[in-house]
Amino acid sequence: MTTNSGAVAAIILAAGKGTRMRSQRAKVLHELGGEPMIRRAVRAVAAVEPSPDPIVIVVGHQAREVEAALNFHGARFALQEPQRGTGDAVRFGIDKISENFNGDVLITYGDMPAITSATLRAFLEAHQKSGARLSFISIMLDDPAAYGRVIRDESGKVEKIVEHRDASPAERAIREINTGFYLVDSVLLRSALEQLKPGNAQGEYYLTDIVAIARARGEKVEAWVAEDPAEFAGINTREELANMEAEIRAAVNRKLMASGVTLVDPASAYISEQAAIAPDSVIGPNVQILGACKLGEGVRIDGTAWLSNVTIGPRCHLKLGVRAEDCVIGEESEIGPFANLRAGTELAGHNRIGNFVETKKARLGRGTKASHLSYLGDATIGDDTNIGCGVITVNYDGYDKHRTEIGDRCMVGCDTQLIAPVKVGSDVYVASGTTIIREVQDGALVMSQHPQREKAGWMATWRERHADSPDGSLKRKKKD
Ligand code: UD1
Ligand code: CA
Repeated sequence: MTTNSGAVAAIILAAGKGTRMRSQRAKVLHELGGEPMIRRAVRAVAAVEPSPDPIVIVVGHQAREVEAALNFHGARFALQEPQRGTGDAVRFGIDKISENFNGDVLITYGDMPAITSATLRAFLEAHQKSGARLSFISIMLDDPAAYGRVIRDESGKVEKIVEHRDASPAERAIREINTGFYLVDSVLLRSALEQLKPGNAQGEYYLTDIVAIARARGEKVEAWVAEDPAEFAGINTREELANMEAEIRAAVNRKLMASGVTLVDPASAYISEQAAIAPDSVIGPNVQILGACKLGEGVRIDGTAWLSNVTIGPRCHLKLGVRAEDCVIGEESEIGPFANLRAGTELAGHNRIGNFVETKKARLGRGTKASHLSYLGDATIGDDTNIGCGVITVNYDGYDKHRTEIGDRCMVGCDTQLIAPVKVGSDVYVASGTTIIREVQDGALVMSQHPQREKAGWMATWRERHADSPDGSLKRKKKD
């Protein structure tokens, strides 16, 4: 027999449906901290030093979708169909590991996303140091519930794992339970898997039976008692999913507050783990900061904001009700209330985007403002330009999107429409109500207003005609 090389491979079990989620979607695809939970479980395994190679993920229920969710290079997938138990799943997994591989196989679950690579690393060290050919992680629980019980002999050596359903009352009283994380010498694992029989309450191939099989062969078996049971919390129900989400969120919030960020109401701050927020920022109530947002020093968010992949420069002020996605907001800008910054918005700094302004693929130079009721889409605007109330870039002709360009120091009057593609130079004054259809040269005044007409005394005549209206107002008489 060849000796164990010390190399590590991994098998992650994720074929189960997760019946108690009551979902069309495979359990491991349900999101936790903004991503499918299986990604967290796989990341923890991949980050163990040395990184297990290969990493095999056993998929079954919604296999294709699970594979697609793991845009993780180098992972291999094994399809287990039908799902006949954890032992059966590992058989499919080990088929994807070369016969020449001679080391330890780490076995974990895709629905245990709280596990850390540090704990897995400590487990690996303990396993290799002990010289055991099979180790598994156990924890002590006050309420061992439906977990597999760890049975030890008088000398304290692990004998076997007994599933809750197959356990006697005395065995059920045992508080040490199997977490489902194993390290097994690959040669032992292959041969023990062949010996599994489905002679149990569920008629399944139990991976847990490899413990008794190894013991019967006189192999050294160890249970490594982990300190923090919280890392071994599995997700079986939507309630457990929500509880773990809340824990992740609370941990993010604690870290941010410790680093100098004010959270006015941590209970309503939803901040992703990838977000980077500089000290002395103040985050108001009901704020979601998702994806890889970056907030500079002293950013103020008054409240009710939804931000995804947004970079916000120092000392910006987001007033009530800002939604921003995939964009850059330069330093000392003032946004909102009620502004919608869509993907591709880039504000150079010292900008003002006021209420009911929507931007999309819009680049605004330093100091440029759009304070009220505008749509700026597919636009490039220079520095220190003022976009008046109600200005609209008409970017869509029904087939294609077109760009609008406006230079520096322009005054774009209220209710202007720019029919793209169109270009307005620098230092241009656009009279309000103008429809711009052609290029405007630097320094010009441009207007397309209709001449104003006036009829003297017209109102008195109009009222005379409606004299029978009860209150003499312009209101139309009600028909009865
Ligand atoms: C298993 C253990 C139990 C342990 C518990 C910890 C066995 C027999 N029992 O029980 O000792 O205390 O985990 O959580 O192993 N899976 C597959 N294919 C299958 C069956 C399961 O991929 O055919 C996957 C599931 O998707 C899940 C994991 O294996 O991620 C565990 O399966 P589950 O049915 O939840 O095992 P338990 O009954 O909880
Ligand atoms: Ca389970």
